[in-house]
Amino acid sequence: MYQAPRGTADILPEEQPYWRYVEKVIAEVTLLYGYQRIDSPTFEETGLFTRSVGEGTDLVDKEMYAFDDKGGKSLTLRPEGTASVCRAYIQHGMSNLPQPVKLYYVCPIFRYDRPQAGRYRQHYQFGCECFGEDDPIMDAEVIDLAWRFFKTLGLRKLSLHLNNIGCKECRPAYLKTLKNYYSKHTNSLCTDCKNRLEKNPLRLLDCKQASCQHIAENAPHSIDALCPACASHFAQLQKYLGLLRIPFIINNRLVRGLDYYTRTVFEIQPEEEGSQSALGGGGRYDGLIEQLGGKPTPALGFGLGIERIILNIKKENISVPAPPALQVFIAYMGDAARDKALKLASDLRQSGVSVIMSSGEKSLKAQLRQANSLGAKWTLIIGDEEVKAGTVTLRDMADASQKTVIFSEIVSHLKL
Ligand code: HAM
Repeated sequence: MYQAPRGTADILPEEQPYWRYVEKVIAEVTLLYGYQRIDSPTFEETGLFTRSVGEGTDLVDKEMYAFDDKGGKSLTLRPEGTASVCRAYIQHGMSNLPQPVKLYYVCPIFRYDRPQAGRYRQHYQFGCECFGEDDPIMDAEVIDLAWRFFKTLGLRKLSLHLNNIGCKECRPAYLKTLKNYYSKHTNSLCTDCKNRLEKNPLRLLDCKQASCQHIAENAPHSIDALCPACASHFAQLQKYLGLLRIPFIINNRLVRGLDYYTRTVFEIQPEEEGSQSALGGGGRYDGLIEQLGGKPTPALGFGLGIERIILNIKKENISVPAPPALQVFIAYMGDAARDKALKLASDLRQSGVSVIMSSGEKSLKAQLRQANSLGAKWTLIIGDEEVKAGTVTLRDMADASQKTVIFSEIVSHLKL
């Protein structure tokens, strides 16, 4: 028997109301902030991701679904959304549009990760990217959007973690200080951290190994090493978040797993758990557009994991709208009645009434049972008698009351 590949899941009909609910709130909230939807291809040239996310990150080194196509080109299933949107921004000359350009997406993301609760090899992200504005008021607006999205969904038990990891001016000196500090502790570091010390020192700070916790907790903070421009940017952002009454925690160990970030980084986490279960994260990436061949363009955004959001909607017992109930089930007995039922189903659908018609040869009792389990509001019953008389029996499934209705008047009897 075939199974869905490890780390992937079918989204079955009973799960769909959660997805429709999240999508509805995405459409509402993005509209409030003037974001326009973009859909990019599921795969891109591998180089786009290695250049933007960065070699030396887990995402690029261990988690990409990369393959050569039949023409020998290396392609990769999108392991995150930002790089593709940046590529599209450059490719379509969006720097010529009035800035900022605000784009959002909802799409599957592929990561060869170790599957566990809330971590999959294919997951969906809702992401927003905003190009062409370096004012910290935009950082506040982007965070406000994410925060409003969660509040509109009804999620309450969340916290916002915030940090600033500097820019190309001040980061090198900070990394030097960080490496200096860590090199005094090399013997106590886990193997991964020994590598990080060489390849990606910032990531030392978010190591999850117990043995590295004490060292990371006492490490120097990036916010103490910011250049005046970054320090002022961070101070203004905090002021704006205060004005918007968005509570945040400054988390000195928040660095994010992708290399493109500059200045602001943030994550939204459930109150009681660690960063493994982040519902979303993002930040600024002021150097990325230029790095990918575009004009220097400040930019920022976030990505939120929809499966994790739905897990939390369930945990917080938030009720989501049920899909509209089936209006009519058509039961029939006999060949002439079947023909009539087929035409009736088609006419009712033409009038906007949802219909499921019985099929095959079943007893009336079995057909009524089926109507019940489908949750139909009404069942129309047609037998040979009804065909001759040009009528149907209309059964209200709520109280089992029945009446005879002539064909041409059915719609007006369905109090929809
Ligand atoms: P990320 O933190 O790698 O950021 O992913 C964003 C969110 O996607 C995570 O917080 C989490 O909710 C969800 N997620 C990530 N990996 C998995 C997984 N294996 N299974 C289930 N959910 C997962 C980015 O991808 C950046 N592109 C976000 C961004 C946009 N930054 C700026 N703009």
